[in-house]
Amino acid sequence: MVKSPIHVAVTGGGGNIGYSLLFRIASGQLFPGVPVVLHILERQEVMPVLEGVKMELGDCAFPLLQQIIIGSDPRKVFEGVDVAILVGAKPRGPGMERKDLLEANGKIFIEQGKALNEVASRDVRVLVVGNPCNTNCLIAIHSAPNIPKSHFCAMTRLDQNRARAFIAEKASVPVVEVSDFYIWGNHSTTQVPDFVNAKISRKPLLDTIKDRNWLEGDFMKKVQNRGAEIIKARGSSSAASAASSAIDSIRSLYYGGEGFSLGVHTEGNPYGIEPNLVFSFPCRMKSEGEYDIIPNIPWDSFLEAKIRASEKELLEERALIQSLF
Ligand code: NAD
Ligand code: LMR
Repeated sequence: MVKSPIHVAVTGGGGNIGYSLLFRIASGQLFPGVPVVLHILERQEVMPVLEGVKMELGDCAFPLLQQIIIGSDPRKVFEGVDVAILVGAKPRGPGMERKDLLEANGKIFIEQGKALNEVASRDVRVLVVGNPCNTNCLIAIHSAPNIPKSHFCAMTRLDQNRARAFIAEKASVPVVEVSDFYIWGNHSTTQVPDFVNAKISRKPLLDTIKDRNWLEGDFMKKVQNRGAEIIKARGSSSAASAASSAIDSIRSLYYGGEGFSLGVHTEGNPYGIEPNLVFSFPCRMKSEGEYDIIPNIPWDSFLEAKIRASEKELLEERALIQSLF
């Protein structure tokens, strides 16, 4: 039987993350066995680069890649898309915080939210990667009133993956042994990597790593500042690992498996986080493309203080965007 293709949009296709992400999607790593049509958006000035990327995608002769649509008008490029990964935005440079990008990047997500609202599939799912991704996602949600808020999410999976990798190294176990590791809050230096509820080999992480000072101090800082550490080392921000985490995020939403971290709209959240933010919670797949926030994960006083600080930062970011509308 011939399967109908899934239409996947990627923005910023001429950039660093795009150069990894597009090839992974086209090779079938996002939706294994499903034919794919790529819809790639770029700024007009960068179109020659994107033409080159398109040539290379073709040269790979990926069996599942049916068609590549490129352009700089989101109203045309997003037509009929089922999944949109919004990467295209300015990355931060050394010494910047991600929220310093709000002014430059916020407007992009108004335009793209409106375009998705007008022309995407009514069932579209949207993952925002461009920073500051939580608040950009909130902007996109408010620009797309006809798409359910729960169809939008922001990427905190890279933080989760980093945290799991650091813990695996510390405990000298394979990374698959580290589970239930969730990120709460903002994709920023206030994010809260939850070592309290995480597990190693299905037992509490704290049974194996007893040095709570290390966990509260160096470990948390390492996860929170990993993006900056990479920018310093590479001279540009994480790209292949970001693309890999974008694939992980969407696969978790469509194929399930273990719980995962995702920035989602706070309406009706079970943790009493202020409504109308995009906040990272422990999530699990409910049905294809749908998630539940996992309830009843306990906070100790340390976690609670940190989670409230991240919520406060998101409220401050939200106040900064009021002028954009
Ligand atoms: P990059 O500069 O290499 O590429 C970004 C691309 O987006 C550029 O080619 C640019 O022309 C394009 N672009 C800009 N505005 C656009 C628009 N309006 N429409 C379409 N395309 C547009 O940057 P990158 O390294 O690929 O990073 C992209 C974004 O992802 C940055 O904001 C970065 O901070 C963010 N990021 C997020 C995470 C995360 O975990 N959430 C991880 C890594 C990077
Ligand atoms: C990351 O975490 O690597 C990205 O958000 C890029 C950045 O600005 O740190």
